[in-house]
Amino acid sequence: MEMLLQIEGIDASYGKRQILHEISMNLSRGEKVLLIGPNGAGKTTLLKTVIGLLPPGNGAVNYLGEDITGDSVRTRVRKGISYLLQTENIVPGLTVEENLALGGYFLSKQELEKRKNMVLDSMEFLKPKLKTRAGLMSGGERQGLALSMILMRNPKVLLLDEPSAGLAPKAAKEIIERLDKIQAAFQVETVCMVEHNLKLALKWATKIILLVQGRVVLVSDSPKSFIQQPEELEKYFFEQV
Ligand SMILES: Nc1ncnc2c1ncn2[C@@H]1O[C@H](COP(=O)(O)OP(=O)(O)OP(=O)(O)O)[C@@H](O)[C@H]1O
Ligand SMILES: [Mg+2]
Repeated sequence: MEMLLQIEGIDASYGKRQILHEISMNLSRGEKVLLIGPNGAGKTTLLKTVIGLLPPGNGAVNYLGEDITGDSVRTRVRKGISYLLQTENIVPGLTVEENLALGGYFLSKQELEKRKNMVLDSMEFLKPKLKTRAGLMSGGERQGLALSMILMRNPKVLLLDEPSAGLAPKAAKEIIERLDKIQAAFQVETVCMVEHNLKLALKWATKIILLVQGRVVLVSDSPKSFIQQPEELEKYFFEQV
């Protein structure tokens, strides 16, 4: 499998407090990676270093064989890496249409229109809501909009931080089940998702990475085996914390 994103020995800190310790992982073309771990393990922090919101103290991020550790967030987004924030990922006071335009802020007017139509074909529930203020929609619709904003950027790598957080079970199921279709329709090469909803996410993933206290403690290429033996995963979760 061709390597897309390579994370090499990342350390990251907030002030003096080190959160990530020598994190290394590879995301290959076609892979669907589920990043799990207890609250505070450093999952969001890791995604932030990959997208460039937090500079690592040590280590490197390579994308398609190129060292992008020094690139700004904007440059990384233009290169094809996009990140769904865990919170505050839409602008509630703007309409759905305005939010989509914000998602594709660097596109020409013509490209924006084309891309918007493409996104709406996959996210059909947003079509009748284009003029609705985003903050007035349900949680599921807002998360769908947040994902749509990212798709406006033609991403090759999608980093999703708990897309189903705070959603009702039905909406959570819908958003995760929609991912495969989206990945195919938009030719997204790889997705790395943080998700606490293990039952749903293990069905989706081709690889799991478990992070505990800022370290990788398990990498498995057979995530589906954990659906049958959830206690195995719990063992890692609870014994290593
Ligand atoms: N901006 C910040 N400044 C200082 N410390 C932070 C900051 N953001 C997170 N932390 C701390 O870093 C550690 C890792 O946090 P992080 O948000 O990466 O965890 P997480 O695995 O995403 O957790 P969750 O499952 O709750 O989202 C936690 O101890 C947290 O308190
Ligand atoms: Mg988090």
